[in-house]
Amino acid sequence: MHLHDPSYWQSIYDAEARPGWDMDSPTPLLPELLDLAESLGLAPGPRVAVPGCGFGHDAAELARWGFETTGVDFAPAAILGARARYGDAVEWREEDWFQLEAPPYDAIFDHTCFVAMAPERRAEFVACNARRLRPGGIWLGAFFHTVANPPGPPFATEPEELRRLAESQFEVRHLGPASRSHPRRAGREFLMVGVRRP
Ligand SMILES: C[S@@+](CC[C@H](N)C(=O)[O-])C[C@H]1O[C@@H](n2cnc3c(N)ncnc32)[C@H](O)[C@@H]1O
Repeated sequence: MHLHDPSYWQSIYDAEARPGWDMDSPTPLLPELLDLAESLGLAPGPRVAVPGCGFGHDAAELARWGFETTGVDFAPAAILGARARYGDAVEWREEDWFQLEAPPYDAIFDHTCFVAMAPERRAEFVACNARRLRPGGIWLGAFFHTVANPPGPPFATEPEELRRLAESQFEVRHLGPASRSHPRRAGREFLMVGVRRP
């Protein structure tokens, strides 16, 4: 079974009622990233996608703040769990992020998605995010530079690796440590704000 395959993730949902990554609440990095974007003069437009949304806490929080939010996850249990928790406040899509057919979004909120992908797929993931955004659209992301159980998933990355991968298609407007991480993740995460080049 492979990370590229939904059955890999589904088997974790089948084995654990609440997988180890699930915080049962939206990440406190969500307001930190939105504040950061605002301080850069980058208010996200209304349509936001959350790839690898899991049980949907971040997507539902974005919807609560008034964004038209789409939560995407290819594991059936993730989407079932998200819908059970949050109903139809979010458009839930049980699909592979790499295959999704959707009009371009204004923003992507990436929390534990990039780092969940196999590292050899990172360039492909960045290109996919660029395709999913309109020109000028924003990629807001939180990433582990240090993981609790190497090698992963999640797989650690470094700010400079992310910059190198992103910058062909994104203008990287911010790259720096996260200050409002969940206590279980404190000191292990960094943030990026990237703007999709025209
Ligand atoms: C580590 S979990 C994080 C879930 C959620 N973001 C959270 O923080 O609770 C990664 C999620 O990404 C999903 N995923 C992995 N690859 C995916 C892909 N190619 N398309 C859609 N979802 C994917 C998995 O099914 C899993 O639910």
